[in-house]
Amino acid sequence: LGNGLATTPQMGWNSWNFFRCNIDENVIKETADALITTGLAKLGYNYVNLDDCWSEPDRNSEGKMVPDSKAFPSGVKALADYVHSKGLKLGIYSDAGLYTCQIRPGSLKHEYDDAALFASWGIDYLKYDNCFNMGIEPEERYPPMRDALNSTGRTIFYSLCEWGVHDPALWAGKIGNSWRTTDDIEDTWESMTTIADINNKWAAYAGPDPDMLEVGNGGMTYQEYRAHFSIWALMKAPLVIGCDVRNMTAETYEILTNEEVIAVNQDPLGVQGRKVDTYGPDGCYQIWAGPLTEQRTVVAFWNRCSKPATITANWGAIDSILLPVSPLKIYGSAQVDAHACEMYILTPVIARSAT
Ligand code: DGJ
Repeated sequence: LGNGLATTPQMGWNSWNFFRCNIDENVIKETADALITTGLAKLGYNYVNLDDCWSEPDRNSEGKMVPDSKAFPSGVKALADYVHSKGLKLGIYSDAGLYTCQIRPGSLKHEYDDAALFASWGIDYLKYDNCFNMGIEPEERYPPMRDALNSTGRTIFYSLCEWGVHDPALWAGKIGNSWRTTDDIEDTWESMTTIADINNKWAAYAGPDPDMLEVGNGGMTYQEYRAHFSIWALMKAPLVIGCDVRNMTAETYEILTNEEVIAVNQDPLGVQGRKVDTYGPDGCYQIWAGPLTEQRTVVAFWNRCSKPATITANWGAIDSILLPVSPLKIYGSAQVDAHACEMYILTPVIARSAT
């Protein structure tokens, strides 16, 4: 979608993965504060995004959506003002159906009114879900909200959450700034690896969203979360934090603030990295790679086996577009713990000496 946004993957925080429906204005304000005090905002995490459950179950007598009066007594405009005063941006959530998944009002057939309301509140980002969709094709339900957002005159990031229905790579790029490739992520190794593999199919397109990060939510080990973050970065996935940033462990903080990994994600070349080789038991020794600016290449050795291993990449066997050194027979190995991922950036010597 050519609205000037998402030239690199969006970064920020979203309430769903950790808080579910237990959100209120204090949680959101404290999260905005924490993004600043922890330094996460400075690293690029600048969207603070409400997910489902921010609104009352019914529209008001004028047909407008109303923020939940207990959880958001000051209203969303005041919240946006607060978030903006911190130099951050506020995101909201709705649904391309009759209701949201948690049975709050959906925006189907209310697109222009709801977009105008969101813009009047100072909203910067809309995540648009897919529940209660009346069986209408997503290709039909998602464009009206794009047009409605465009008509507001406010630049609003449009995040399609159509769960990967109908191969969104083929239609969603013109509609949204990013589009989901999968069902919901869960805070488990099984879910995270499955989603990585599904998302990998869309490596040729810009905009795939394999869902938000689970790093810091407790269901995976340190190495598994490191791998989750590294692979999402390499795949140019949105880096949307899904944990409680007010209470992060040192390990969570270390993973989310790894500047080299973030730089891979935000590299201006913007080409999604992908799985380029698998071998070993059930293909669990994996090489993922992708091109970066200045003819550099990011390579991740991912050990999806349950024992530590030495993983070897044969650069020559890997696609020559990804690896400029391919005419040469060069092998690289890394010692990788179980479920861990070791990431390297290959820099051509000639390019380096020329600068
Ligand atoms: C389904 C979406 O895929 C999730 O990310 C989340 O927004 C929930 N709905 C909220 O109900």
